[in-house]
Amino acid sequence: MERQRLARELHTGVGQMLAAIRLQMDIVSAYFPNAPDAARLALSHIGDLADDALQQVRSVSQRLNPPEWQRLSLSAALQQLWVVSGIPERFGGSIQVEAAPSDPDPALKALIYRTAQEALSNLIRHSRASRVDAVLEQHGDRLILTIVDDGVGFDAAAFESKPASLASGMGLRSIRELAGGLGGKFAIESGPVGTKLVVSVPCHFVDP
Ligand SMILES: Nc1ncnc2c1ncn2[C@@H]1O[C@H](COP(=O)(O)OP(=O)(O)O)[C@@H](O)[C@H]1O
Ligand SMILES: [Mg+2]
Repeated sequence: MERQRLARELHTGVGQMLAAIRLQMDIVSAYFPNAPDAARLALSHIGDLADDALQQVRSVSQRLNPPEWQRLSLSAALQQLWVVSGIPERFGGSIQVEAAPSDPDPALKALIYRTAQEALSNLIRHSRASRVDAVLEQHGDRLILTIVDDGVGFDAAAFESKPASLASGMGLRSIRELAGGLGGKFAIESGPVGTKLVVSVPCHFVDP
């Protein structure tokens, strides 16, 4: 499909060139730690511009060729994720999606979807649960996703107090960051009887 090809070319072609510009920029800056202020400022502006351009290229390329789930309503996307992840075969449990009159805006939709994706992959890999329950509901102007399992749990406080590292996992931290960026909250409760994740974000709906 023409749109797919365009999206790919933008992403890999232009996108990689912009990423390379950013990288070269950092190399030049590292060579001249004592450059005059004006020069360092200009270099850092070039870097920021390259970052912005890269972000725009990615977003255009995404819009040209959105992943399958983005074309579905949030409710349909979550139901599909639930089934595709194999949860119904491995666990007891339920997914309950309160039907919204329209979809939340794309950034919120992505946050909710990514949270569900991360939570389900975590509980398949880490929880040893027998039951999983997921609920998406709307409370006033907030959208709330809750995912509960009855597995072995983990020390959430210790996990959160440790600095980010590859070994301690990036999944939950990146969700926390995404949620924070949208004015939302992300709570983890975990202990010997299981784990509960709640992401709650103020919500704007787009017309269907
Ligand atoms: N549902 C869960 N049940 C038990 N432990 C969990 C669960 N979710 C997360 N964890 C623990 O929290 C850690 C951090 O999770 P995460 O940030 O997603 O990183 P990763 O999955 O890459 O290890 C996991 O390594 C695991 O020990
Ligand atoms: Mg994970």
